[in-house]
This record gives sequence, C-alpha cells and structure tokens, in this order.
Amino acid sequence: MKIIRTANYEELSKQAAKMMITRIKSNPNIILGLATGSTPIGTYQLLIDDHLKNGTSYENITTVNLDEYAGLNPADPNSYHFFMQDKLFKHINIPASHTHLPEGTAENLLEECRQYEELIKKKGGIDLQLLGIGGNGHIGFNEPGTSFDSRTHVVILDEQTRQANARFFRSIEEVPTHALTMGIATIMESKEILLLASGKSKAEAVKQLIHGDITEELPASILKNHKSFTLIADEEALSLS
Ligand code: PGA
Repeated sequence: MKIIRTANYEELSKQAAKMMITRIKSNPNIILGLATGSTPIGTYQLLIDDHLKNGTSYENITTVNLDEYAGLNPADPNSYHFFMQDKLFKHINIPASHTHLPEGTAENLLEECRQYEELIKKKGGIDLQLLGIGGNGHIGFNEPGTSFDSRTHVVILDEQTRQANARFFRSIEEVPTHALTMGIATIMESKEILLLASGKSKAEAVKQLIHGDITEELPASILKNHKSFTLIADEEALSLS
C-alpha cells in the first residue's frame, strides 16, 4: 500500500486527478471504475477543467461505476446515474454508450448483478478503480461483514450508511433500503486501485485500515493485499493514524 498525504481536500483532489489524467493519456482505451459520493467531486471537476483546457479525450474510454440504489431510475436526482451525468459525463466527450452503472430499476436485480459482472469481464477488467471509504470502512456498498469473495450483489444498506446519505434526500424515509454494488472480489480484480479519504469523519476508518488487521469487519482492509493500491488521504483523515 502506498500512502499519499495531502494538506487538505483541494490537494487530495489535485493528486487524484493528476494520477487519473496520466493513466488516461497513456491508455486512451482505459477502463475506469468510478465512484460517487462527496469525495470524488473535486477530482471530477479537475478532470473536466483539464478536458476543457487541455483537450484530454474520453472518446475511447469506458467507465463502470461501483454501485446504484435499488429502485431509483436514472432520471432521479438521487440516483448515481444522475450524479455521474451531472458531475462528470455531460461535461466531457465520453459517448453515453461507454458509461455503465448497475440498473437499480432492473426487473430482476440478481440477473442484473450477473450481467454487470459479465460486462466487466467482457471489457477485459477494470484498469483503474477509484474508491471512497465509508465511516464504517465500506467500499462501494460493501458494508462490514461482506465476504471478501463477494461479486456484484444486492445489499441491504447499513443504518449508518443510510443516515450518512440522508443529507441528499428530503428525509431518511426516502433513502433506499437496498442497493446493487460491485463485490469486494470484483473490486480486487482491478489492475490498480485508488482510494480517497478526506475529513475527520474518515479518520477512524483510515486508522483501522492502516494499522488494523485485514478483516471483513472493515471491508477496505482487504485492499492492503492488492499489489497496486494507493491511498490518498488528507491531514484530517490521517489525524488518528
Ligand atoms: P463520501 O462517501 O465520499 O460521500 O464520504 C464515501 C463512501 O461512503 O464510500
């Protein structure tokens, strides 16, 4: 595990964007695994700025996102489809047919999970997977206790996760109870993994990640077994480490 320490969120975003742009330039057909949440927003904005200023092209890249809420359709402002359009896709020259997220409104969610795994395999696997970390150590929607052998699956969201995400909804009741997420084994097959952690609310999880055991109680801890894993964390996220 490589750790890059940054002074603050702005610097973290710069480091992450720099790393992603370098990979995109050296492999214009790259398969990117993308994440939602507050943390990658600054990184996405810098990718957009660079695209507009320097013309970095996304024409031939493919993206696969980590997860989506069950029951929300792509036009719902709280769906991750909408988030990705709004925060990245509509601002860069990526063809819509190259962007993929699990379908939260699929009639058969189990079949959707199976097809998502197949899609990733058919594309040749993920070259670079971007991740955030939950305050409870989750990655994607893989909550504590999820098997390290898991593939894309349907999950019941943790109460802590629903509370953390309630800020985007009008009330906690509106936060979906289920989601579809890439599994931990799926994530671990990525050729390279980049985890971003910012702020005090992540300090405990980051401390356990760096200093604790590899355990299914802290899903992110398995990343320490990955041969090409980088953690970019700011001072606040590293304040207990
Ligand atoms: P956040 O979420 O970036 O909004 O903090 C990260 C996560 O829960 O994985």
